[in-house]
Amino acid sequence: MKHLILGGTGTVGGAVARELLARGEDVKVLTRSAEKAGSLPGGATAVIGDLRDPGCYHSVFSRFDTLFLLNAVADTELQEGLAAVNEARRAGAARIVYLSVHDAEKGPHIPHIAAKLAIEEAIRRSGIAYTILRPNNFYQNDYWFRETIQEHGIYPQPIGDAGISRVDVRDIAEAAANALTRSGFENRSYALVGPEPLTGPECARAYGEVFGREVRYAGNDLQAWAREAGKMLPGWMVYDFALMYALFQDRGLHATAGQITETERIVGHLPRTFGDFVQETATLWTREAVAV
Ligand SMILES: NC(=O)c1ccc[n+]([C@@H]2O[C@H](COP(=O)([O-])OP(=O)(O)OC[C@H]3O[C@@H](n4cnc5c(N)ncnc54)[C@H](OP(=O)(O)O)[C@@H]3O)[C@@H](O)[C@H]2O)c1
Repeated sequence: MKHLILGGTGTVGGAVARELLARGEDVKVLTRSAEKAGSLPGGATAVIGDLRDPGCYHSVFSRFDTLFLLNAVADTELQEGLAAVNEARRAGAARIVYLSVHDAEKGPHIPHIAAKLAIEEAIRRSGIAYTILRPNNFYQNDYWFRETIQEHGIYPQPIGDAGISRVDVRDIAEAAANALTRSGFENRSYALVGPEPLTGPECARAYGEVFGREVRYAGNDLQAWAREAGKMLPGWMVYDFALMYALFQDRGLHATAGQITETERIVGHLPRTFGDFVQETATLWTREAVAV
């Protein structure tokens, strides 16, 4: 089977591509960048294209059996996602595995979540066998905060005090690879969650313990967060993410016991813990710092 991976040069899609290659599968990755096309993992082939450009759809959506569909958060996310579903249908795809978000119904007012709810619905009505993966906040987001955590002793992601069931991207990749290559997961949605809810102060404390220094949570002030984030991200994205963090702070995003069992079923083992992730990350960052 040939798998077309959208987002295959990014965090999740890259992990999905590597997982499939490790299993001996045939992998094709869409990228907008000739440079990234040249540095894909061994065995993967590239197709150059842009979901914002219908002119490339025929060359992108051809010669594949299954589609891993991931859309980056963008102000055109809905357009890009629907185009991919339509083109998968035109091309006769046998299966779609779609990356959505955990408990999307709780955030219909949040633009990137509203886009996913609509794309999920289009997939359900497409007639193509599907699996919808709904991950919580990724542990690996913390890679963005490396300098802030290590150099300044601050954990800056404003996830609040109510707790969210963060998840490891490697578990998402295993779930996706299982859904793309095995039967038994069709026409269902799966929450993908970690084993325990985590608060901002708990994430800070976990890094403090492995680095042997104080790491303090930056707090829940979303206006202060937006001022800092606005130095790097476009305004529409800061607005969108601030709404998401407000939801985390107000209500949390806890997995139910049933959702943890669901995760275990599609991943094939218990979800990885945040404690183990932080330990591995500290080892990795320390090794990289020594190598420089
Ligand atoms: N971060 C979280 O905690 C979290 C939690 C749940 C769900 N999610 C969802 O996960 C998704 C983001 O995944 P990620 O972090 O793996 O993304 P990422 O690392 O930012 O990678 C984005 C990927 O999308 C591709 N891409 C962007 N625009 C494109 C376009 N116009 N046409 C074709 N390809 C395009 C990029 O490819 P090139 O640059 O190579 O073209 C890249 O491979 C979002 O939908 C987000 O809502 C995130």
